[in-house]
Amino acid sequence: MKARGSTWGEPRQSVGAKQVRRELLENQSIELLKTLHLVTRDGQLNADARRKLKQVNHFVGLLTPALDDALERFEKPLVVDVGSGNAYLGFILYELFLKPRENGELLNVESRDELTAKAKERASALGFSRMQFETAQIAKGKYPEKIHVLTALHACDTATDEAISVALEHKAEHIALVPCCQAEVAQQLKDARPKVDSAMQSLFSHPWHRREFGSHLTNVIRALVLEANGYQVTVTELAGWEHSLKNELILARRTGQPNGIAKKRLESLLSSTGVSPSKLPLPRGGEGRGEG
Ligand SMILES: C[S@@+](CC[C@H](N)C(=O)[O-])C[C@H]1O[C@@H](n2cnc3c(N)ncnc32)[C@H](O)[C@@H]1O
Repeated sequence: MKARGSTWGEPRQSVGAKQVRRELLENQSIELLKTLHLVTRDGQLNADARRKLKQVNHFVGLLTPALDDALERFEKPLVVDVGSGNAYLGFILYELFLKPRENGELLNVESRDELTAKAKERASALGFSRMQFETAQIAKGKYPEKIHVLTALHACDTATDEAISVALEHKAEHIALVPCCQAEVAQQLKDARPKVDSAMQSLFSHPWHRREFGSHLTNVIRALVLEANGYQVTVTELAGWEHSLKNELILARRTGQPNGIAKKRLESLLSSTGVSPSKLPLPRGGEGRGEG
């Protein structure tokens, strides 16, 4: 029998000390990964840690042009990572982008206090003095007036919508989102069925389709909200599916030009599907470039 990995992609496996270097980004240190307990003391990378490191490193790679742009253009750049969990992403971004510079801050916002406390302790031990932490719901966090880069890696369900709302309010120059599980819109689709056109209904009448379509629709709405509010949006894949099942990356760059076509499409999509994500700032009024 063939190894599962040959048909189904790379199997989840530990990586020995000698191979760990191949997993690293340029200038990424094994010492930091040991402090984060992603690499063991004897230099091994276990399967789960390897998966996490792949996700974060792919994310960092795709985010690099945005970070370089923000760090170059602004005197006091602020990177905010929301739903930051153990702050693996924040630590890695700090080591690669902020530590070599004398300015720039990185704020992590996370609702679980024990995760914030542990990450804060690590940052202090590492001397990462421009890394800040706040225990808060994303929507209720205290943010400086201007955010330059906002990231949300696998922020659960509507937490990604909260992240978009904060980013728009603080006119983030760059936004990078990898959405996680999504439930709200699937439930709204179920509730909206009687009001929706029957052909449209067939897209989500089976629960499985409703979950998949709900997830897709949520991300389409997110992209349109960003475009409507003056962002150029790119949607792409984060990493191979064997490293993450939640794999859609939404990158947005602020142009400051609200897009009326996106706004109209958004309004039409919301009305034809009967959904209305509760945490997203859905556009109102007649601003924008208009159809054409
Ligand atoms: C799946 S984890 C991802 C953590 C981290 N971004 C990573 O990729 O390793 C999602 C994190 O978001 C946090 N979270 C979920 N909803 C949140 C909200 N509304 N406000 C703040 N944090 C939230 C959870 O407590 C959890 O730590």
